[in-house]
Parts: sequence; structure tokens; C-alpha cells
Amino acid sequence: MNLKEEILKLKEELDVTLVAHFYQRDEVFELADITGDSLELAKKVMLTDSKFVVFCGVGFMGESVKVMSPQKRVLMPKIACCAMARMIDEGYYEQNLKKINEAGIPNENILPITYINSSAAVKAKVGEMGGMVCTSSNAYKIIEKGLHSGKKIFFVPDRCLGQNFAKSLKLKSAVVGDGSDLKEADIICYNGFCSVHQQFSVEDVEFYRNKFPDILIAVHPECDPSVCDAADFVGSTSQLITYIKGLDEKQKVAVGTEFNMVNRLRTKNTYILSSTKPECPTMNETTLEDVYKTLKSIKDDNISKENEIFVSEDTAKWAKVALERMFEV
Ligand code: 13P
Ligand code: SF4
Repeated sequence: MNLKEEILKLKEELDVTLVAHFYQRDEVFELADITGDSLELAKKVMLTDSKFVVFCGVGFMGESVKVMSPQKRVLMPKIACCAMARMIDEGYYEQNLKKINEAGIPNENILPITYINSSAAVKAKVGEMGGMVCTSSNAYKIIEKGLHSGKKIFFVPDRCLGQNFAKSLKLKSAVVGDGSDLKEADIICYNGFCSVHQQFSVEDVEFYRNKFPDILIAVHPECDPSVCDAADFVGSTSQLITYIKGLDEKQKVAVGTEFNMVNRLRTKNTYILSSTKPECPTMNETTLEDVYKTLKSIKDDNISKENEIFVSEDTAKWAKVALERMFEV
């Protein structure tokens, strides 16, 4: 039997759900029971009743499952940490809050919102302060709801997402530490970003528009605001897939997001909006062999602590509150 057959056999035998984000390698992605964008994965996994979840994605995704469903054992064949999520921890969160306070904005006038690409510990900080989580597919709604509080939004960790949604809501944004006026801003952003989505530039958009005047440009909101402004469509991974699948066969579209996902859309007339290969190194770490070993460890009752997600009760309590506030919206 080859690895793929072994995995399918183990999946049949075990009380397990195999989950994969769109950025996973094809050979892993095609074996998953559940696929989707961050929001869809968080929701769908919560509804499964299997004892084990084998999650092929990045660490914050597995943590969110564990926070929402502590009774499940959540295993990740590779606990790879999203580079953007690594840019903020509780310490950086506090330091930024202090800088905002020093600019004359007290905590009672601040509502924090964290992008789901953050650790459970950061989500817990946000939850404790009355804030909530958002993903790229619901950020507009969540920020809009947050603004009803009459407070300024402290958006962490992705400055691009914060700035892009501020623009689409016609609001002012500022970034902590870059010299911009925090008091003037409706949305104050933490200075984090995704190194993969920083690879797409306005020059790439111009290149494709010059080459193919009727090409469409579709990008993820983690791209720089200048790129999102120049695009025809901005959306989460799922929203991009729906948009591209709905296009006419002949319609060319240059896509600004991770390579594995765009490559899977080759039946459409797609181009990668970059001269380099925009692979997410951490999403690409999980191999078929890793998945096999994790399933085998369940079967042999020999699960390695290295592959299992644990979140302390204290952290889980407030992180859950922040996630539940998002699900309510
Ligand atoms: P989605 O929520 O759109 O799947 O995005 C997750 C992500 O990490 C994009 O880089
Ligand atoms: Fe994180 Fe960027 Fe990879 Fe998404 S593409 S998981 S934001 S590093």
C-alpha cells in the first residue's frame, strides 16, 4: 500500500476528522474531510463529533479548535506557526496598548479586535478587554459592529487588514510606532504583516494590466493597501475561490495569494500576481508522511506531545469569549 492508501485506511478505522486549509500541499489537501478558509474551518470542525481532529494548517487554527472544543484531542502533523501570528505575543500587545494610552487614549476608549491569525494568549487578552476575533471573510462586519461601541478599534496583528477595512468603511487608520497620529484614527493598527502577501506589489498589478488590458486582479486582504486599491476584487481564500470559479472560461485573472491555492485553480485562466513563487513556508511544512505518522500514533496509542495542541484553562476561558463574540456576529 502507498502512503495515500495507508492514510485512507487509518481514517476509516479511527474516530478522526482530517482537516486542511486551502494553502496545504495538494497531496494533503485532497485527503481531507473538511477544507475551507479560517472561518469555515473553525465553524465546521466545531460541529464534528469525532474524538480526534488532525489539523493540517498553522498553529493558531489548531488552537482555535481546542479552545472551542476542549473535549477533542487536536493533533497537528506539524505545529507550524503562522509568521504573522508570531509577530505578536501578550508582551507586545501590552507594550502597544501602553503606547496608545501614552498618546492620550485610555483603555475605556479602546475596543481590541484580533485577526484570527494570532495565538490563543493574544485572543485571551482581547477577550478580557471586551473585544473579539475576526477573520478575513467577516472583518468588515466585525469592525462595523465594534464601531457601534463608540470606541476606537485597536486592530492586531495585521496592519494591512486593519488599513484595508478602514478604507472600505471610509474610516481613518494609523499604525502604532510609525509616527502617525493615533488620536485622529478610528482604527489603530498593530504593525504586523504577512510576509507571503507582502510579495505582491502595485508594479505586479501594472505589469499584468499592461500585458493583458482586460485581465482581472483578485487579491487577499492581507496584501498591502496599495495593492488592494489597485485590484478588482479583494476577499478571503474562500471568497477568492468563489469569485474565480464564477468567471468566464476565457477571462484572465491574476491572483494575489498563496501558490498552492492558486495552482489548484488552473482550470480557470489564472496567473500568479508575482514574479516569485508566493509559498507560505509554514503551511507547506506538512507532508503526507507527517499525516500518516500522526494517524498511526493515534492507532498505536502513542501520540507525541509535540503534535498535540494544549491551551491552559485560563487562556482558553477568555480566548473562547473573544471567539464566541465573533460567532455571534
Ligand atoms: P483565510 O481566512 O482567508 O483562509 O486566510 C488565512 C490566511 O492565513 C491567509 O494568509
Ligand atoms: Fe500566516 Fe501569511 Fe502563511 Fe497566512 S500566508 S498562514 S498569514 S504566514
